[in-house]
Amino acid sequence: MPVKTSFYFISLLMLCLSSTAGAANGALIYEQNCMACHGEGVAGAPRVGEADAWKERLSKGIDAMVTIVIEGVQGYSGAMPPRGGNPDLSDEQIRAAVQYMLEQLP
Ligand code: HEC
Repeated sequence: MPVKTSFYFISLLMLCLSSTAGAANGALIYEQNCMACHGEGVAGAPRVGEADAWKERLSKGIDAMVTIVIEGVQGYSGAMPPRGGNPDLSDEQIRAAVQYMLEQLP
């Protein structure tokens, strides 16, 4: 009986872990690829969590923003490298990171 109980417990635990993985992904991708510039606003990057830096950019919608991140931009405040400089990131991963960044706005 105790063996069976712990088996169920472990399965439940794994189920929980796998369902949160998708949500945590954006945060992880951001930390590994984007935070260096966007955390402190290095090189003219809009700082994450700073509403004023994002207000105008947000007005064009998230799809347009994701496209900019994928292609990169020499913008008015600095240069955003294509895919944050990591060509291994998929479009979905870029979108997850952008979504995470926008969720940090107050
Ligand atoms: C080398 C520094 C650097 C890195 C690394 C970087 N960015 Fe940027 N990012 C910038 C700069 C600079 C801008 C502002 C460009 C401009 O002047 O419009 C920018 C702009 C943006 C914007 C706003 C685009 C818009 O709509 O105007 C988004 C969203 C963004 N970055 C997301 C990301 C994501 C996601 C990552 C990681 C995958 C990332 N950035 C990595 C420097 C960086």
